[in-house]
Amino acid sequence: MSLVNENFLKLQDSYLFSTIAKKVEKFTKENPDKKVIKLGIGDVTKPIVPACIEAMHKAVEEMGTQEGFKGYGPEQGYDFLRKAIVENDYKTRNVELEPDEIFVSDGAKCDCGNIVDIFSKENKVAITNPVYPVYLDTNMMSGRNIVYLPVTEENNFIPELPKEKVDMIYLCFPNNPTGTVLSKEELKKWVDYAKENKSIILYDSAYEAFITDESIPHSIYEIEGAKEVAIEFKSFSKTAGFTGLRCAYVVVPKALKGYTKNGEEVLLNKLWNRRTCTKFNGVSYVIQRAAEATYSEEGKKQIKENIKSYLENAKLIKTGLEEAGFTVYGGENSPYIWLKVPKGMTSWEFFDKLLEKANVVGTPGSGFGDFGEGYFRLTAFGTIENSKEAIRRIKETMI
Ligand code: MLT
Repeated sequence: MSLVNENFLKLQDSYLFSTIAKKVEKFTKENPDKKVIKLGIGDVTKPIVPACIEAMHKAVEEMGTQEGFKGYGPEQGYDFLRKAIVENDYKTRNVELEPDEIFVSDGAKCDCGNIVDIFSKENKVAITNPVYPVYLDTNMMSGRNIVYLPVTEENNFIPELPKEKVDMIYLCFPNNPTGTVLSKEELKKWVDYAKENKSIILYDSAYEAFITDESIPHSIYEIEGAKEVAIEFKSFSKTAGFTGLRCAYVVVPKALKGYTKNGEEVLLNKLWNRRTCTKFNGVSYVIQRAAEATYSEEGKKQIKENIKSYLENAKLIKTGLEEAGFTVYGGENSPYIWLKVPKGMTSWEFFDKLLEKANVVGTPGSGFGDFGEGYFRLTAFGTIENSKEAIRRIKETMI
């Protein structure tokens, strides 16, 4: 008899974004004449920039030659990309990392979930509420104890340090879903807490490219001592529109230690490398060349333009909603707009009404946790035309 992992039975029946997709599919089938605008899942709409397309063409041609052909690549990523990451994403911010502290992967979602492999099931994990569901679900799947850190209007959506000792802490800034950012001083509190308690911070900075305020840190390693307590996740998905190409990376510094039950120190870089070699065969060469091209002069310029335009959408959505009388958070230094649903309505009721009346899709706050109830998330990743049209429809039908 094959026993199942019963922890799966404690999860919600369906992953949040699959539930939404199913609801939208049903609505579209029943209303084929309605043009639905999707501002739900944070998926990009701008095509891959020319610098990356050129790099991929070149890499494809190379693969068709005897000299340029590549079979299995290094599981951790090609050196050219690991070096480019170190130089461009870290050295420019005065953070010194070695290429072998970077692990190239096929997505931050997988990384945030897979990282739990190297940690004991006995660890207590702190997770904000509301939260990107992957952190919670993957830890529930392995049966860890969860400590919830409410992020609410009262604390400006900035989590407070846990009252009890925790071993692992997930932080995501700019935050998904609330769009909040953390200052260096606030982030330092977490690094200090982790040092004091020998905890590990799992820092998701997938949205750092949207930071325009120079005082806001892009990486946790901008905080002194963070290399001893934090793993960082970064993605080319939101930065360079790679949601369909798939490329991301994890930083596991060599200074980072975990412990055995006997209190012996273990290098986490070594464990993650071991896990990666066993369970992963690397991101395709062509895609890694595309990722490398995001750091070329042309690539940087082209990507910056795209980010600028998404940020303009964010501003337009935020301002439009405020004009319509909604209370709105986020939308600055972030592609996510977090709005309060009208009194007396749940997040899912607002979702249904928005879909039905305005034919606009968003994400109910309660889907990110019970402290998200009463809130709703819209993304700025749509086209400018759709963002404007969505606001026009919301003003016309929702107030
Ligand atoms: C979101 O909408 O929260 C994200 O796009 C989902 C993801 O990156 O997996």
